[in-house]
Amino acid sequence: MTSTIYLLNGPNLNLLGTREPEIYGHDTLADVEARARTRASVHGYDLVFRQSNHEGEIVSWIQEARENGAALIINPAAFTHTSVAILDALKMLEVPIIELHLSNPHRREPFRHHSYVSLAATAVIAGLGAKGYGVAVDAAAELLG
Ligand code: DQA
Repeated sequence: MTSTIYLLNGPNLNLLGTREPEIYGHDTLADVEARARTRASVHGYDLVFRQSNHEGEIVSWIQEARENGAALIINPAAFTHTSVAILDALKMLEVPIIELHLSNPHRREPFRHHSYVSLAATAVIAGLGAKGYGVAVDAAAELLG
Protein backbone atom coordinates (compact mmCIF):
# COMPACT_ATOMS: atom_id res chain seq x y z
CA MET A 1 0.00 0.00 0.00
CA THR A 2 1.56 3.27 -1.14
CA SER A 3 1.77 6.31 1.11
CA THR A 4 2.42 8.81 -1.66
CA ILE A 5 0.10 11.69 -2.51
CA TYR A 6 0.54 13.19 -5.97
CA LEU A 7 -0.04 16.94 -6.38
CA LEU A 8 0.03 17.99 -10.03
CA ASN A 9 -0.13 21.53 -11.39
CA GLY A 10 -1.03 22.65 -14.89
CA PRO A 11 0.03 25.45 -17.22
CA ASN A 12 1.24 28.88 -16.12
CA LEU A 13 1.35 27.89 -12.46
CA ASN A 14 5.16 27.98 -12.69
CA LEU A 15 4.67 31.77 -12.72
CA LEU A 16 2.61 31.83 -9.54
CA GLY A 17 3.43 34.92 -7.47
CA THR A 18 3.97 37.15 -10.48
CA ARG A 19 1.02 35.93 -12.60
CA GLU A 20 -2.10 38.10 -12.05
CA PRO A 21 -1.40 38.38 -8.30
CA GLU A 22 -4.73 40.14 -7.74
CA ILE A 23 -6.36 36.81 -8.66
CA TYR A 24 -3.80 34.18 -7.67
CA GLY A 25 -1.95 35.90 -4.82
CA HIS A 26 1.73 36.59 -4.16
CA ASP A 27 2.82 33.14 -3.03
CA THR A 28 5.08 31.34 -5.50
CA LEU A 29 4.79 27.72 -6.60
CA ALA A 30 7.66 26.94 -4.21
CA ASP A 31 5.65 28.54 -1.38
CA VAL A 32 2.53 26.45 -2.06
CA GLU A 33 4.70 23.35 -2.43
CA ALA A 34 6.17 24.04 1.03
CA ARG A 35 2.66 24.33 2.49
CA ALA A 36 1.62 21.05 0.91
CA ARG A 37 4.81 19.27 2.06
CA THR A 38 4.33 20.41 5.64
CA ARG A 39 0.79 19.04 5.75
CA ALA A 40 1.78 15.77 4.02
CA SER A 41 4.52 15.12 6.56
CA VAL A 42 2.16 15.90 9.46
CA HIS A 43 -0.12 13.15 8.14
CA GLY A 44 2.76 10.75 7.40
CA TYR A 45 2.51 10.87 3.60
CA ASP A 46 5.19 11.40 0.98
CA LEU A 47 4.38 14.08 -1.57
CA VAL A 48 5.17 14.08 -5.28
CA PHE A 49 4.73 17.72 -6.38
CA ARG A 50 5.03 18.63 -10.06
CA GLN A 51 4.07 21.32 -12.56
CA SER A 52 3.90 21.19 -16.34
CA ASN A 53 2.79 23.44 -19.16
CA HIS A 54 2.24 20.36 -21.35
CA GLU A 55 -1.02 18.42 -21.41
CA GLY A 56 0.54 15.09 -22.44
CA GLU A 57 3.09 15.26 -19.64
CA ILE A 58 0.28 15.70 -17.12
CA VAL A 59 -1.58 12.73 -18.65
CA SER A 60 1.58 10.60 -18.19
CA TRP A 61 1.92 11.72 -14.57
CA ILE A 62 -1.73 10.81 -13.89
CA GLN A 63 -1.01 7.36 -15.31
CA GLU A 64 2.02 7.15 -13.00
CA ALA A 65 -0.18 8.16 -10.03
CA ARG A 66 -2.56 5.35 -11.01
CA GLU A 67 0.27 2.91 -10.24
CA ASN A 68 2.02 4.67 -7.36
CA GLY A 69 -0.37 7.11 -5.68
CA ALA A 70 -2.63 6.79 -2.65
CA ALA A 71 -4.47 9.95 -3.74
CA LEU A 72 -4.20 12.60 -6.43
CA ILE A 73 -4.60 16.35 -6.03
CA ILE A 74 -4.64 18.29 -9.26
CA ASN A 75 -4.81 21.97 -10.15
CA PRO A 76 -5.23 21.50 -13.90
CA ALA A 77 -5.25 25.30 -14.46
CA ALA A 78 -6.61 26.12 -17.94
CA PHE A 79 -6.76 22.41 -18.86
CA THR A 80 -9.64 22.17 -16.36
CA HIS A 81 -11.87 23.75 -18.97
CA THR A 82 -10.52 22.10 -22.10
CA SER A 83 -8.97 18.68 -21.56
CA VAL A 84 -10.87 15.50 -22.33
CA ALA A 85 -7.47 13.74 -22.30
CA ILE A 86 -6.90 14.65 -18.64
CA LEU A 87 -10.48 13.63 -17.77
CA ASP A 88 -10.01 10.26 -19.47
CA ALA A 89 -6.74 9.66 -17.58
CA LEU A 90 -8.38 10.59 -14.27
CA LYS A 91 -11.28 8.21 -14.91
CA MET A 92 -8.84 5.29 -14.72
CA LEU A 93 -7.80 6.12 -11.15
CA GLU A 94 -9.33 4.18 -8.29
CA VAL A 95 -8.02 6.50 -5.57
CA PRO A 96 -9.43 9.81 -4.26
CA ILE A 97 -9.04 12.73 -6.66
CA ILE A 98 -9.17 16.31 -5.40
CA GLU A 99 -9.58 19.09 -7.96
CA LEU A 100 -7.88 22.21 -6.63
CA HIS A 101 -8.05 25.85 -7.71
CA LEU A 102 -6.53 28.94 -6.13
CA SER A 103 -9.36 31.15 -7.36
CA ASN A 104 -13.06 30.33 -7.42
CA PRO A 105 -13.68 29.76 -11.15
CA HIS A 106 -17.44 30.13 -10.62
CA ARG A 107 -16.96 33.81 -9.75
CA ARG A 108 -15.06 34.40 -12.97
CA GLU A 109 -15.69 34.33 -16.73
CA PRO A 110 -18.39 31.91 -17.95
CA PHE A 111 -15.85 29.75 -19.82
CA ARG A 112 -14.31 28.87 -16.42
CA HIS A 113 -17.61 27.59 -15.04
CA HIS A 114 -17.34 24.23 -16.77
CA SER A 115 -14.78 21.70 -15.57
CA TYR A 116 -14.09 18.42 -17.37
CA VAL A 117 -12.02 17.39 -14.34
CA SER A 118 -15.01 17.69 -11.99
CA LEU A 119 -16.61 14.75 -13.82
CA ALA A 120 -13.91 12.53 -12.27
CA ALA A 121 -13.15 14.40 -9.02
CA THR A 122 -14.08 13.09 -5.60
CA ALA A 123 -14.00 16.65 -4.23
CA VAL A 124 -13.31 20.19 -5.38
CA ILE A 125 -11.47 22.86 -3.37
CA ALA A 126 -11.55 26.36 -4.86
CA GLY A 127 -11.17 29.96 -3.82
CA LEU A 128 -8.90 29.53 -0.79
CA GLY A 129 -5.78 30.84 -2.54
CA ALA A 130 -2.45 29.35 -1.48
CA LYS A 131 -4.05 28.00 1.71
CA GLY A 132 -6.01 25.61 -0.49
CA TYR A 133 -2.85 23.59 -1.09
CA GLY A 134 -2.55 22.71 2.59
CA VAL A 135 -6.30 22.15 2.90
CA ALA A 136 -6.25 19.81 -0.11
CA VAL A 137 -3.53 17.64 1.46
CA ASP A 138 -5.46 17.59 4.75
CA ALA A 139 -8.59 16.54 2.84
CA ALA A 140 -6.73 13.81 0.96
CA ALA A 141 -5.37 12.44 4.25
CA GLU A 142 -8.87 12.57 5.74
CA LEU A 143 -10.34 10.68 2.77
CA LEU A 144 -7.60 8.05 3.11
CA GLY A 145 -8.48 7.63 6.77
C1 DQA B 1 -6.95 28.04 -11.82
C2 DQA B 1 -8.26 28.54 -12.46
C3 DQA B 1 -8.25 28.32 -13.96
O1 DQA B 1 -9.46 28.81 -14.52
C4 DQA B 1 -7.09 29.05 -14.60
O2 DQA B 1 -7.03 28.76 -15.98
C5 DQA B 1 -5.79 28.77 -13.94
C6 DQA B 1 -5.73 28.63 -12.49
C7 DQA B 1 -6.86 28.39 -10.32
O3 DQA B 1 -6.03 27.82 -9.64
O4 DQA B 1 -7.58 29.27 -9.84
O5 DQA B 1 -4.76 28.73 -14.59
O6 DQA B 1 -6.91 26.62 -11.93
